[in-house]
Amino acid sequence: MSTIDYGDKIPNNVNLSEDRTLQRALEHWQPGFLDWWKDMGPDNSRNFDVYLRTAISVDPSGWAQFGYVKMPDYRWGIFLNPAEADRKIHFGDHMGEPAWQDVPGEHRANLRRIIVTQGDTEPASVEQQRHLGLTAPSLYDMRNIFQVNVEEGRHLWAMVYLLHRYFGRDGREEAEALLARRSGDADNPRILGAFNEKTPDWLSFFMFTYFTDRDGKFQLAALAESGFDPLARTTKFMLTEEAHHMFVGESGVSRVVQRTCDVMNQIKTDDPAKVRAAGAIDLPTIQRYLNFHFSVTIDLFGADQSSNAAIFYSSGLKGRFDEGKRTDDHKLHGSHYPVLDVVDGKLVEREVPMLNALNEVLRDDYIKDSIAGVNRWNRVIEKAGIPFRLKVPHKAFNRQIGTLAGLRVSPEGKVVSEAEWNAHKDEWLPSAEDRAFVASLMGRVVEPGKFAGWIAPPVMGINRQPVDFEYVRFN
Ligand SMILES: [Fe+2]
Ligand SMILES: [Fe+2]
Repeated sequence: MSTIDYGDKIPNNVNLSEDRTLQRALEHWQPGFLDWWKDMGPDNSRNFDVYLRTAISVDPSGWAQFGYVKMPDYRWGIFLNPAEADRKIHFGDHMGEPAWQDVPGEHRANLRRIIVTQGDTEPASVEQQRHLGLTAPSLYDMRNIFQVNVEEGRHLWAMVYLLHRYFGRDGREEAEALLARRSGDADNPRILGAFNEKTPDWLSFFMFTYFTDRDGKFQLAALAESGFDPLARTTKFMLTEEAHHMFVGESGVSRVVQRTCDVMNQIKTDDPAKVRAAGAIDLPTIQRYLNFHFSVTIDLFGADQSSNAAIFYSSGLKGRFDEGKRTDDHKLHGSHYPVLDVVDGKLVEREVPMLNALNEVLRDDYIKDSIAGVNRWNRVIEKAGIPFRLKVPHKAFNRQIGTLAGLRVSPEGKVVSEAEWNAHKDEWLPSAEDRAFVASLMGRVVEPGKFAGWIAPPVMGINRQPVDFEYVRFN
């Protein structure tokens, strides 16, 4: 695979210069993107030199080149993984047919919707995180959030390329609309709920990158199975970047937990008020943030029963996670899957046709993957000799989408009355007071190697640099 030419206006490995019309259309979209970045990208970061990773090719030696970049000069490129010769559709009713190199007419509307929905999450998260550079707990962390932000910007480019290249005029209109919507805007919000929530502090940011970027991983992995080959190749490359975002979240929460445990052991207390007075975030508050981000994120998988999910699968547009590694018939007619329902005030499992339950299948795969990292956080607490354990809440807790929407369920999975919910809400979800406390800890730390008092330093630096490396230069 060839190396990307950064002399091009739009770096790419898709032979853009051979398609003048497409090149002009994307060059026409580019200034709007840069204006969006200026307005909605990281606040007050224009002159910083940031030690960033930039991809110059999709092969192992080229996709992670490190060096200082002035953020608005970051080169957002278009990269597809190499084509697989004679690739076949490997699930759904078209199984065994050659993968599509162009959009099949009958699936055009659905494919466009899938691409737009994915594309919309990318700029949304940049908007949600735009003020956090101002309160970064260290240069290392500031560098990491900027890395995540520029790559989410690149993910938007990835989806916009598909819209421009394969969907003609309506694709171009959708690409414009992606720059017009705003996270949390009353009139023109982002498409999905979790992407309209605020990310007001760094604990939220770490939870977001752990839980919500992991939703990204599962959606992208399902799209990487797609019979529409350009979508599969695009999302495969996006997944390599996504891994770093989840690392930022997992290691971030782990460092917060580490610091809290250290403080608890130093002052010999498990009293949240005393932990807070010592400048760390008490474990119950971390648990409430976890409950919030987990429940909001699992809603992103959509309704537990969905005829759209069945259509997307049967028509070969969106597979299951690890579709290629599964050993069933990859068509799923006649298969069943359990979903939750409420009968006489109790949660019960009910078998439904699996094709209609594919959102639930993906959600359950996601939940399994999320729990693994939470267990790693628990090992930090265990090592510190503290009996507290973090856990993900029940799947039915705090849901807004599907059969469970609006139902009052405790984190343990017990259906409760409105009165019980209100009595315990502040034990289960971050209260205004929790958020105010966490906000009170936020303040920018800019000396290389120094860290805010509520978070432990990382075990190692980025790209084998030392932890006290000057990851951001302010000029
Ligand atoms: Fe992304
Ligand atoms: Fe991401």
